[in-house]
Amino acid sequence: MVPHPRDGRVDRIRQLSSPPEGVIKRRVLGLTMSIQKIAVLGAGQMGNGITQVAACAGYEVTMIDIEQDYVDNGMATIEKSLSKLVSKERLSEEEANSALSRISGSVDRNSAANVDLVVEAIPEIPELKFSTFAELDGICQPNTILASNTSSISINDIAAATNRPNKVIGMHFMNPVPIMKLVEIINGSETDTEVTAAVIEANEKMGKRALCCNDSPGFVSNRILCPMINEAILTLQDGVAEPEAIDGIMKLGMNHPIGPLALADLSGNDTVLHIMNVLHDGLGDDKYAPSPLLVQMVADGKLGRKSGQGFYSY
Ligand SMILES: NC(=O)c1ccc[n+]([C@@H]2O[C@H](COP(=O)([O-])OP(=O)(O)OC[C@H]3O[C@@H](n4cnc5c(N)ncnc54)[C@H](O)[C@@H]3O)[C@@H](O)[C@H]2O)c1
Repeated sequence: MVPHPRDGRVDRIRQLSSPPEGVIKRRVLGLTMSIQKIAVLGAGQMGNGITQVAACAGYEVTMIDIEQDYVDNGMATIEKSLSKLVSKERLSEEEANSALSRISGSVDRNSAANVDLVVEAIPEIPELKFSTFAELDGICQPNTILASNTSSISINDIAAATNRPNKVIGMHFMNPVPIMKLVEIINGSETDTEVTAAVIEANEKMGKRALCCNDSPGFVSNRILCPMINEAILTLQDGVAEPEAIDGIMKLGMNHPIGPLALADLSGNDTVLHIMNVLHDGLGDDKYAPSPLLVQMVADGKLGRKSGQGFYSY
């Protein structure tokens, strides 16, 4: 049988899904990268969720944002989420308090100086991510792993802003972080296998399933998900059905927990548009062109839940 041209890449992904043998040997000798302390950059929707699951897993976490109000809001969200888990008896009060005691807030990025892993969850603006990674590279110890929660920006481009591209990796948590099981791990072309293994181990400790892919526009999750959402918007634009029917057909017929239009509203229509543009530009195929209705809605400020109006009213 003629091997598929991409078989080599698939083998590499398989290897990275479990720690390579060499790493296991080094771990026995106590030389493997060990993650004890974590800094999360950004206390927003994703950052506070990541902080919560890391603290619940026993890590010391510093949650850093640019203003104290944002840190306080992030902390308040975590406290609310933990007490909800306590009331549902999925966590004891003692465990919740102990997780909270492991979290500290900061508005100083130098607080990341002595951590083993930084998870960046700041806005999806390429220049902001690049300058932030360059800054973190100067602040953190040489061995610190720098991970990005980006939904769409190339890990290789982010890594190129640092002098440690072998220690840069994508750690793509899903929203809402405390509930969703998956973390999509994106290996840059220079990411060390040891770094991947350490990050997989940390994710598993957080109760997540880590699945690996290589750096490519949209990675796996958004390359498949966003074109489906875009197709649902084209279906609406073509007058094939009303939003409730489109979402209902996908929920009841395909067993999706949420319809594609409701999911666009939840993620933010601006985010969906941004990712479609990344796919369109990065893969150079017009099948990824964003639907005109999506472009129009974003221009009109109909961003979904966060603006009160999207495919539905909130
Ligand atoms: N929201 C989602 O559904 C989702 C899902 C997966 C991945 N992501 C990705 O996660 C990242 C964050 O998204 P979000 O939804 O949490 O955004 P958000 O706007 O809720 O939070 C971002 C936070 O970062 C802070 N911030 C901005 N610049 C900073 C800096 N230089 N240092 C420290 N903090 C800074 C902001 O003040 C804000 O509190 C983005 O890259 C996004 O693409 C989002």
